Amino acid sequence: MIIDWYPGHMKKARAQIIEILPKIDLVIEVLDARLPASSANPLLERLRGDKPCIKVLNKNDLADPTVTKNWVSFFEQQQEVKAIPLDARNRRDGGLIPKLCRKMLPARSKKGKPLRVLVVGIPNVGKSTLINTMAGKKMARVGDKPAITTCPQQIDLRNGILLSDTPGLLWPVLDDMAGACRLATSGAIGDNAYDTVEVGLTTAQYLKERYPAMLLKRYKFPEMPETPLQIVEEIGRRRGCLIKGGDVDLYRAAELLLRELRAGSLGAISLERPNEAPGAFDQKVETE
Ligand code: G4P
Repeated sequence: MIIDWYPGHMKKARAQIIEILPKIDLVIEVLDARLPASSANPLLERLRGDKPCIKVLNKNDLADPTVTKNWVSFFEQQQEVKAIPLDARNRRDGGLIPKLCRKMLPARSKKGKPLRVLVVGIPNVGKSTLINTMAGKKMARVGDKPAITTCPQQIDLRNGILLSDTPGLLWPVLDDMAGACRLATSGAIGDNAYDTVEVGLTTAQYLKERYPAMLLKRYKFPEMPETPLQIVEEIGRRRGCLIKGGDVDLYRAAELLLRELRAGSLGAISLERPNEAPGAFDQKVETE
């Protein structure tokens, strides 16, 4: 699979982060709870050094709660790291972050100086939403297309926390096939940058392996089709994704599966687990 996704401003964001980090007390890394490893920027880990970090496992509402619990334990084994699953659209969830920042840096909070916090994360992971929720009004732009945030900005939350926002930061190269495919499945990358049928088939195989009951229930399959291709074809037949002559329009069927998965219509689904053995996302799925 070829995923071609490298907006030029990512380089700029990286330079900005290097410049701003020395002036920062704590980093909030926003991750997608459904794929916390693949939605992380490997560079950030290196750049951050031993700076305290809150890993926000966002879109928690869409992720498998048991798997998310395992991710929290996994991250909290790391030095200076706290992990918190949340739904960035929820005000109560957003309110937990300032409290956690102060708890992680009690000495600094007592000095009366604002805590300087940097929010980072790949595009579309929910940074703007989280900032808006924490600020209590619309400050950062929220959009429906990846990479919409382009200007860095500072936001005084007026509760002793000064937030710095950076434009979306993605990894320089998407060379890990499994990670890239999980990102495509989650909707984190533009739909022109990947092959919808291929990603749909891989996703179907993954669901068959990990969440078969949800797949059966959503599409009312009497029994599980054998191959990923048959799964997507069956979805297409049942949902009327047909072309002239009655054949299934694979593209539309795959798109429908991905859209429904992303919306949470199949249920709460995680796309990866800590220290996972190779699975559907690591295999080349037969598209013929
Ligand atoms: P970004 O700044 O990191 O690029 O992401 P942004 O906040 O723009 O969020 C991207 C999409 O993710 C938005 O949806 C937003 O509503 C959604 N989102 C953010 N946090 C959560 C969450 O915790 N749960 C769920 N389910 N969705 C979340 P959109 O449809 O692209 O835009 P909009 O129509 O909601 O404005």
